[in-house]
Amino acid sequence: MARSEEHAAVLARGLKKSYAGRVAVDGIDFEVPPGICFGFLGPNGAGKTTTMKMIYGLVAVEGGELRVLGLDARRQRREIKSRIGVVPQETNLDGDLTIRQNLIFQGRYFGVESRRARERADELLEFALLADRAEERIQALSGGMKRRLLVARALVNEPELIVLDEPTTGLDPQARLAVWRALERLRRQGVTLLLTTHYMEEAARLCDRLLIMDDGRIVTEGQPRRLVDQHVVREILELELGDGCDGEALVESIDGRVSGHDLADARRASTRRPGSRSGGRWSGCVSAG
Ligand SMILES: Nc1ncnc2c1ncn2[C@@H]1O[C@H](COP(=O)(O)OP(=O)(O)OP(=O)(O)O)[C@@H](O)[C@H]1O
Ligand SMILES: [Mg+2]
Repeated sequence: MARSEEHAAVLARGLKKSYAGRVAVDGIDFEVPPGICFGFLGPNGAGKTTTMKMIYGLVAVEGGELRVLGLDARRQRREIKSRIGVVPQETNLDGDLTIRQNLIFQGRYFGVESRRARERADELLEFALLADRAEERIQALSGGMKRRLLVARALVNEPELIVLDEPTTGLDPQARLAVWRALERLRRQGVTLLLTTHYMEEAARLCDRLLIMDDGRIVTEGQPRRLVDQHVVREILELELGDGCDGEALVESIDGRVSGHDLADARRASTRRPGSRSGGRWSGCVSAG
């Protein structure tokens, strides 16, 4: 094993997982150095959540090698779980408990002594901007508040590595900024962050390294800003066409008149259904120039 691999926070080699014969993660390789923020970006169904679930031990590794904090994800799941924090894509807070109780119970689950668990819960309520709602039940929280609480809950055991599956999906801009700042603070403290996102600006702001996945495979990996510029479609041009109107001719006629956009690219990426030369809906990818 190379020296960097020995110290990697996460190391995957030929990592594979299928569900009922359908491949979700198709033999991928990646390495997350400790102390950085590492992002996964990709369309719905790309395999991001499945990869995260193998890392935090909710889904069994089917093929290949996966090491988390130097431990074998197949054989040392329990040890891995005690040292990492997890923010799942779906909310799994306990609806029968109050907000404070959710945090205290999580601490107790990790073996934190009762008085310390209560102190920690209070710190995390402040962190999540939920101190004034501490005694309310989970049902009383908005979707964004639940996500903030999930992030706080992932910190109960003071983890070395935090896996966050779409941590800011559904948050309003202010709440998103609060989560970003919290994650930036954690990263400055040396915690390794592994996150999935659909937001390019989130990837570019938070991540030191970004991996783009599609259809179970890695498309590319590198510096977030460069990858986002190269690989991510910035805008979709959608035209609703009247009868007899040819979308391609229309795009050609306006090419050069929409400043900052390359409509020639849009033509190449047209997704108009074959055989419908005129009328209907026309859409294409537009690259910002
Ligand atoms: N429990 C499951 N049973 C069967 N198929 C599943 C299951 N979980 C995921 N899949 C399939 O595995 C593939 C990858 O799904 P995954 O949830 O990992 O994608 P994702 O990149 O996280 O997508 P999204 O951006 O929508 O969250 C998809 O084809 C999905 O339908
Ligand atoms: Mg997902």
